Amino acid sequence: MVRRSWAEPFKIKMVEPLRMTSLGEREAAILDAGFNTFLLKSEDVYIDLLTDSGTSAMSDRQWAGLMLGDEAYAGSVNFYHLEEAVHEFYGFKHVIPTHQGRGAEHILSRMCIKPGDVVLGNMYFTTTKAHQELAGARFIDVICDQAHDSADRSPFKGNVDLAKVEAAIEQFGAGRIAYLCLQCNVNMAGGQPVSMENVRKTSLLCRKHGIRLFLDATRAVENAYFIKVREPAYANRSIAQILRELCSYADGCTCSAKKDALVNIGGFLCVNDDDLADEARNMVVLFEGLHTYGGLAGRDMEAMAIGIRESVEFDHIRARIGQVEYLGRMLDSAGVPIIRPVGGHAVFIDAAAFLPHIPRDQFPAQALAAALYVDSGVRAMERGAVSAGRNADTGEHLFPKLELVRLTIPRRVYTQAHMDVTAESVIELHARARDIIGLRFVYEPKFLRFFQAKFQPMVGERVLRLAPGADRTPAHA
Ligand code: F0G
Repeated sequence: MVRRSWAEPFKIKMVEPLRMTSLGEREAAILDAGFNTFLLKSEDVYIDLLTDSGTSAMSDRQWAGLMLGDEAYAGSVNFYHLEEAVHEFYGFKHVIPTHQGRGAEHILSRMCIKPGDVVLGNMYFTTTKAHQELAGARFIDVICDQAHDSADRSPFKGNVDLAKVEAAIEQFGAGRIAYLCLQCNVNMAGGQPVSMENVRKTSLLCRKHGIRLFLDATRAVENAYFIKVREPAYANRSIAQILRELCSYADGCTCSAKKDALVNIGGFLCVNDDDLADEARNMVVLFEGLHTYGGLAGRDMEAMAIGIRESVEFDHIRARIGQVEYLGRMLDSAGVPIIRPVGGHAVFIDAAAFLPHIPRDQFPAQALAAALYVDSGVRAMERGAVSAGRNADTGEHLFPKLELVRLTIPRRVYTQAHMDVTAESVIELHARARDIIGLRFVYEPKFLRFFQAKFQPMVGERVLRLAPGADRTPAHA
């Protein structure tokens, strides 16, 4: 049979020029940024794969929606559009907008956690865990063991290990477990999905013990796509139907709309319980804004409502995840160690395997992300020991099993050629991995240190030794 390709289900109406830089400019920029890609200026970046958060291209309909912003302090029509879209596609009873995902996490954690409680989750996420800890909880990871193995090819590596949940109930007692936070398409595990069967069983177990289950629905639509293509019973269901069923097993959710929902800012908290909803509406006024805007402009809520509808269209989600798979396949076939299967929002490079000569306490993923920027102006993100922080009790660095560099793909922003340029740079660096030098901290913030930390190379001033004959003149002088 002749192969028939599919292509992106959109054409480009407006473009944003990119700036190419010289090797010398990039070396100066990364030195200035303390070898932390978060501290680079965006204008010095060529292809920005730092995050898929808030970096989507909005559609013409979303831009048109911005013009329909009703900026009333209370009762904005755009809030009701958002509420309607969340009801229709996520199905929860109460919707409280927040400025972004962590706003919702803050409120949920404050409402549901008492000091000394435990929160269970299928791997931590940085902001989520930070809010749980600020509210006095200890986080217990109940993700399946396969999630920690970058070479394991199980289709649902985000799944909850029910035996670990049972062990936690045994150890702490259900009464001390504030809730189980079930993350869809687990970010730190490599964008790995949970199966519907696993969510159903986790929900049953939680209900049996009177433990609340909240979804982190930030990438639930991407998770729904994986359920459709990997879980045979769902092959003929629409993405929208799968998303509704996924949410039906939970008591509520937090969501960063900056991912699936295709907007540059926004989030929401959902709960089914009426009393909890009252409490959340009281609290959102203090921290975010009135419950009909939650820190957002009316126009932002309109764009979000439209983005939610677009996010569940099959052609959109197939092209989105297909682009991530395209980059992953190129790297995999060139022998670059990446997390497999390739996840929904990013390709994750196994930096510990990529740079076996750099010990973990010299932060191989941080060094690789910096070296990639120097080589090609591609900006990636560390997701390893620097992101994991320190043990709250002992003060020691935490060394998670996965030491990763994340090449995160914004939605509807870059083309296949940008993926080719990225892959070529990573593949070349893999061939000359020994030119990459480990890093040490020179400044370490107390909270979420990865955002603002600064480093220096273990020797010299370069994270990437110059290749023979390296071009130090501007590429487009
Ligand atoms: N939950 C998950 C799974 C996330 O990936 C994020 C953000 C949040 C919650 C918090 O949402 O940023 O809107 O406050 N992830 C971004 C990232 C920052 O780059 O992965 P937020």
